[in-house]
Amino acid sequence: MKYLGLHDIRKEFLKFFESKGHLILPSFSLIPKNDKSLLLIGAGMAPMKKFFTGEEVPPAKRVTTSQKCIRTGDIDNVGITDRHATFFEMLGNFSFGDYFKKEVIPWAWEFLTVNLEIAKEDLWVTVYHEDDEAYNIWKDVIGVPEERIVRLGKEDNFWELEVGPSGPCSEIYVDRGPEYGSDDERPGGEGERFIEVWNLVFTQFDKDEAGNYNPLSHPNIDTGMGLERIATVLQKTDNIFEIDAIKDIIKRISEVSGTEYGKDDKLDISFRVITDHIRAMTFMISDTIVPSNEGRGYVLRRLIRRAARHGRKLGIKKAFLSEIADLVIDSWGVEYKELVENKDSIKEIIRREEEKFLETIEQGLVRLNSHIEELKENKKNTLAGKDAFKLYDTYGFPIDLTEEILKEEGFKVDMAAFDEEMNIQKERARSAREDSNIGWSNQEDKNLFEGLSNEFLGYEVDSCDAKIIKIISNNEEVESLSEGEEGIVVLDRTPFYGESGGQVGDTGFIYNDDFKLEVIDTKKTKDELHLHIVKVVEGQATKTKVKAEVDYKRRNNIRRNHSVTHLLHKALKEVLGSHVSQAGSLVMEDRMRFDFSHFEAMTKEEIEKVEARVNEKIFEALPVKTTITDIDKAKEMGAIGLFEDKYHDVVRVLSMGDYSTELCGGTHVKNTSEISMFKILSESGISNGVRRIESITGPAVYNYLNSLKSEQEEIASELKSNKDEIVQKVKANVKSLKEATKEIERLEHDLAKDQISGITDSVKEVNGIQYVTSKFENVDVNTLRDLADEVRNKVGSVVVLFATVNDGKLNFVCAVSKDLVAKKISAGNIIKEVAKVAGGGGGGRPDMATAGAKNIDKIDEALDTLTKLL
Ligand code: SER
Repeated sequence: MKYLGLHDIRKEFLKFFESKGHLILPSFSLIPKNDKSLLLIGAGMAPMKKFFTGEEVPPAKRVTTSQKCIRTGDIDNVGITDRHATFFEMLGNFSFGDYFKKEVIPWAWEFLTVNLEIAKEDLWVTVYHEDDEAYNIWKDVIGVPEERIVRLGKEDNFWELEVGPSGPCSEIYVDRGPEYGSDDERPGGEGERFIEVWNLVFTQFDKDEAGNYNPLSHPNIDTGMGLERIATVLQKTDNIFEIDAIKDIIKRISEVSGTEYGKDDKLDISFRVITDHIRAMTFMISDTIVPSNEGRGYVLRRLIRRAARHGRKLGIKKAFLSEIADLVIDSWGVEYKELVENKDSIKEIIRREEEKFLETIEQGLVRLNSHIEELKENKKNTLAGKDAFKLYDTYGFPIDLTEEILKEEGFKVDMAAFDEEMNIQKERARSAREDSNIGWSNQEDKNLFEGLSNEFLGYEVDSCDAKIIKIISNNEEVESLSEGEEGIVVLDRTPFYGESGGQVGDTGFIYNDDFKLEVIDTKKTKDELHLHIVKVVEGQATKTKVKAEVDYKRRNNIRRNHSVTHLLHKALKEVLGSHVSQAGSLVMEDRMRFDFSHFEAMTKEEIEKVEARVNEKIFEALPVKTTITDIDKAKEMGAIGLFEDKYHDVVRVLSMGDYSTELCGGTHVKNTSEISMFKILSESGISNGVRRIESITGPAVYNYLNSLKSEQEEIASELKSNKDEIVQKVKANVKSLKEATKEIERLEHDLAKDQISGITDSVKEVNGIQYVTSKFENVDVNTLRDLADEVRNKVGSVVVLFATVNDGKLNFVCAVSKDLVAKKISAGNIIKEVAKVAGGGGGGRPDMATAGAKNIDKIDEALDTLTKLL
């Protein structure tokens, strides 16, 4: 067996399959693209599902990758065992309708036995029990003895996700020898002796949501070999934490914590948790995921917080994770360049999240401990879901952390109730989700437009001659549309932009001498067919020659608003960091909004800086250039944008001077100076980790300035001031208002005081207890309390009960002197009974209490209760 380092195995694998005619693709992002069935990529084939089903054309029929993967199903076991991990890399080779079993099996064998020099006698294989073809290839072509080919059922040898490409598979195992288990052990069992290293999937089906296995038109190959797993075999280590590159992480943690690995089983768990989670978090952030309370962001938050807590178990007091991330970036960055490119923001995001967590963890722990005490006292063993949710929501305790800590003490969480609270919150976040940019389609329309296409001229011109080739009314093809009717019109060529990429559709007119159509909106189908939603304003529309004319004034504003998204995107990256990436946008005539990933609200200074930067680039009058090119060139040009959906397409790269280069299909200005001016109107959060900027350009800024001006004039006239002095005038007014309010309060107090001088003379007595009652008007509760206090001081031994009606609200105040409190007369109890009479409630201390009530007409009756109570 050959000893190879982790990073060398990856290289060797890709090179091997390149030599077998495969195209090496870089790992896809951990964020699935256009796939709602997955939260994170967890297998090499997951980002390529559409190549298997034929929905998309792959860049080559043979592809090989090392794919970064996250699987969180076993997160609770990570660290506790030395086998589980959330982050791993999957080596794979894929055939999209090209080669099949008789090629892939010999290649896998060759790679393991020749390149990695694993002894043939140590290799076992399993096949799907009905798959004689694979069985025979292993037996006859490769020559594996029959006793080392095991037939297994669907549970073991059929690979599938919830939905999508699936099929029978064949797995390759390495026998680790008798020191790991008895000779009776077989692959696929529970024992430790056989370790599965490679899964060859013969992808023949597309499983749908109903669970049907629909045969694919051509069979495919999908293989997956866990990189870390094969490294443990080659490096003869017992577990993934002893592999070369991963061992370095443990060493770094050991240095930072001053604790040694391998000395204490409990502490070793913490070492392993951090070692696994640090790789997961580094790669996730590098793929633009930011910590949040939802979806992927929550997975990330959980990983960071879990790792942070285990750092404390190792005795580390301060934030340390970003320092460990450094090592991951340096080591894995050789293969994954994005780690190096995003180094600063990766470290910054980890540091902030960890520090934030450390700030609250103490408070949260105190709270959790008091819950634990309560549970013990009440002899209960389950923490209420809403308490667990509060810990999660307010103190940032991931639920698994709460569970973990409770479990250590023998308690659990009411998870059903917790989930319910969580769902409520998720629903809130979901409604704020970004707009999708999928093409316009309507099931019924699909057939109507089949086979049609049209040329889009709108990048170059605002109007052109064209021919109407189809007219639709109420989902049916028609020959004509009469005056007043609405419908859909297809042209052979069009300058109208169809809503897509966040840019709204064009409006305008389609006309000739006989009729005139108003274009209310333009949509685009998935097949790029432009559909004009029209209303006939004159004549009868037929399939003839026409002139198509976009409302160019509106279009110009849309252009300004679209072009400025590019400047804004770049400026945000400059000011906030490279982690910022576009999450959605809406480009309209009168304004635009831009959603982007960022973990906190922008400060006023940051907003000003971004706005200033964008305007600077407008004033520099940068030329805007479109280059139509292929994906590799676009990357060379440094273009940002979603590359992964666009392997085989030609792409449009839009550059603005040297400042911004971005993939884009929208319509744009020819020079940034046409944008005229840019103004941010608001910055807000729309869901966790996603912010939104709303802004205006050009004429809208001019209108905005005008409305500010008239507002200013209106204020000036109200203030009877001149425009230039309004700020001083407002300040002066606020000041005198404050003084006047104080004066009113003082006068009211004096007035009430006058009233109480009479009150002290009206002391009554019952059962040897002195008391006074009185009614006030327009005296607030605080003042009333002072007055009650004053009366109590003056009289000495007394119960004071006051009522006041203020702004239509009734309030009571009760004060009891110390000697009477000692005799168990309580203001709190009195006020409760008194307020009850007037339909209210309240309470307080034994010496002073207040209450509110509704029934003002019961005021006397309520005050009279005091005598009875005493
Ligand atoms: N899809 C299979 C797996 O994940 C093989 O790549 O194991």
